[in-house]
Amino acid sequence: MTEGVQTSPAFTPRVFSGIQPSGGLTLGNYLGAIKRFVDKQDEGIETIYCVVDQHAITATLFDPAVLRRQTRELAAGYIASGLDPEKSILFNQSQVAEHAQLGWIFNCIARMGWMQRMTQWKDKAGKNSQNASLGLFAYPALMAADILLYHATEVPVGEDQKQHVELTRDIAAKFNHDYGVDFFPITEPVIEGAATRVMSLRDGSKKMSKSDPSDMSRINMTDDADAIAAKIRKARTDPDALPSEAKGLEERPEARNLVNIYAALCEQSVDQVLADVGGKQFSEFKPMLSDLAVAKLAPISNEMARLMETPDEIDAILGRGADRARAIAAPILKQTYDIIGMVQS
Ligand code: TYM
Repeated sequence: MTEGVQTSPAFTPRVFSGIQPSGGLTLGNYLGAIKRFVDKQDEGIETIYCVVDQHAITATLFDPAVLRRQTRELAAGYIASGLDPEKSILFNQSQVAEHAQLGWIFNCIARMGWMQRMTQWKDKAGKNSQNASLGLFAYPALMAADILLYHATEVPVGEDQKQHVELTRDIAAKFNHDYGVDFFPITEPVIEGAATRVMSLRDGSKKMSKSDPSDMSRINMTDDADAIAAKIRKARTDPDALPSEAKGLEERPEARNLVNIYAALCEQSVDQVLADVGGKQFSEFKPMLSDLAVAKLAPISNEMARLMETPDEIDAILGRGADRARAIAAPILKQTYDIIGMVQS
């Protein structure tokens, strides 16, 4: 939570989050995002989850067949992980034109300096920023539009998206202030649980990422049991036994990462896990982690493969979700235009 700023109590609680279909899903996406999205759908709040295909083209223009496949695969990943498209709204961003429309308005609210401070922009554009797309620079304004188009009050994300959700708050606050309204909520980033930052298996100082050149650094949701076991066996660790309390992991990033993954997969706290495994060597703990990961992930990857056999059904689910999303988004966009003074006849 950004200190000192309160969420307006006038807004009905509503959850929104999104994932880019920019490559295969990793264990980081699953534990840091999807699994938590699924948990949210039973909390009695409206939940809206998006495949953000317009964000996916900001860094790379994919072969159209690849983008289509990745979009369906991500939708299949959401559903296979337990997301119920009847309970939650599940759709892809480009089918609801209001995202890009509100994104344009927010391009005019956000300041260049705000965007330049975004660490994701600095990381992704790197030294070659003159050659980065304008879309990559404006990315956070479109993300703010994704969220605020639904007056979402909560956004479950991994740690790496915190700055973007804070920028969303800044955009909402500036819009409300400039037009003298209390129209957009000041959204809360929800970053909780043991796995809000799953790290690379090869380097405990780097985030597990689909864009890491080394496949050994990550567990993909489509990895089979042998691949998962091999990656965990080769995961970097240190020579010491596991401690019995979380404090003992403070200076041990690789060990902490494996314990966090274990805790998130078995839905226990890190202290509960360490109470059981404290004193064990990695030679004993790693096979326990592999078995747990395979037991949790194999049913999901099998179900993803099954769903991918009927892409038309996935498309129909996304289409129905888009209709439901538009029904919420269109009146909010219309009110935004009215506030700004754009004539709508
Ligand atoms: P993306 O597609 O990079 O990642 C999707 C979600 O997965 C989380 N995540 C992780 N969590 C823990 N450990 C990791 N190693 C890890 N890697 C990824 C991310 O934090 C994220 O929650 N900008 C967003 C997509 C987006 C969005 C939105 C999110 C667009 N519009 C509106 C929320 C609301 C992104 O690039 O996520």
